[in-house]
Amino acid sequence: MTYYDLRSDTITKPTTEMRKAMADAEVGDDVYFEDPTVNRLEKLSAEMLGKEAALFVSSGSMGNLIPLFIHAGRGCEVLTHRDSHIIQHEVGAVSALAGALPIGLDAPRGILTPEVLEPHIKPHAYDLARTAMIEVENTIGGVCYPLEILQDIRNLATRYGLLVHMDGARLWNASVATGVAADTLATQADTVTFCLSKGLGAPVGSVLCGTQEFIDKARAIRKMLGGGMRQVGILAAAGLYALDHNINRLADDHDHARTIAETINTTEWAHVAMENVETNILFMYVPGTNIQKVVEVLKAHGILCSGSGESIRLVTNLGISDYDTEHICEIIRTINPKEFSS
Ligand SMILES: Cc1ncc(COP(=O)(O)O)c(C=O)c1O
Repeated sequence: MTYYDLRSDTITKPTTEMRKAMADAEVGDDVYFEDPTVNRLEKLSAEMLGKEAALFVSSGSMGNLIPLFIHAGRGCEVLTHRDSHIIQHEVGAVSALAGALPIGLDAPRGILTPEVLEPHIKPHAYDLARTAMIEVENTIGGVCYPLEILQDIRNLATRYGLLVHMDGARLWNASVATGVAADTLATQADTVTFCLSKGLGAPVGSVLCGTQEFIDKARAIRKMLGGGMRQVGILAAAGLYALDHNINRLADDHDHARTIAETINTTEWAHVAMENVETNILFMYVPGTNIQKVVEVLKAHGILCSGSGESIRLVTNLGISDYDTEHICEIIRTINPKEFSS
């Protein structure tokens, strides 16, 4: 059986062209700064985000962890959304490794605002953990930060002497969906991590961007974490290919997500909050059912997705074409809700 895999945008496999770029990559020892392909990827990434420098890291998690060491660390607090990836899905590294104390805040649709953040910024006092950093995730649950809110958060941070890190695992989705250039979004944060291995379709890797001084420190922390890699230009080549070829096409993933969400909303058994379908991620609610059972039924019909809590997450990606989207919609229309209780 062929499955339409909507569990995540991390599941994509490198295309033939991307594999060729990887096979042809010039390489050297990146721990000695001698891998020309990594150097090119880092230079291009920094330019694209309007930052001084960049560092190729193995994963989004590492790209988020390194700034937690540098901007915050032991005895310091990090303000973030309670649903953020650093709180929910990075094995507690924020405290277990960086030694910082995450403060998970609630805000509608995952979007923090100065009104939500400011009351949690601690005054300076000898007995209080110092609020050191704000972490914003863009996109969060597929929802994009409005530029004005990022600017307001930036101003708030400056006023209180805090640093801002952006988990831009899906920064390019945010940029394509909002029409705001990636460097304009990135300017609202001191440091930004973006992933090559999600919507952009590379098999591995993320890039951490910031000032040269920050990246010099980040390189040392990366080494401490065992993340110094050697002839890694093979992977950086996939990243370069992705940046060259796969940014604009993210609009297709967004169209596919909207089409699938609209189809779900034509059924009488499930619904999606359309106002949250801004990019490639959608959450489907199936009231009165066991979510895992719904996941099983969808799988039996050829659609893979993930259920968590009260909702089912579907993520469109490079592996899903217009034709696949039509077929996915057809499957959704033909499902009989009685199957969820059998
Ligand atoms: C928003 C967000 N940030 C960070 C990450 C971590 O990326 P990685 O799996 O490469 O560590 C993910 C992974 O799905 C993510 O969705």
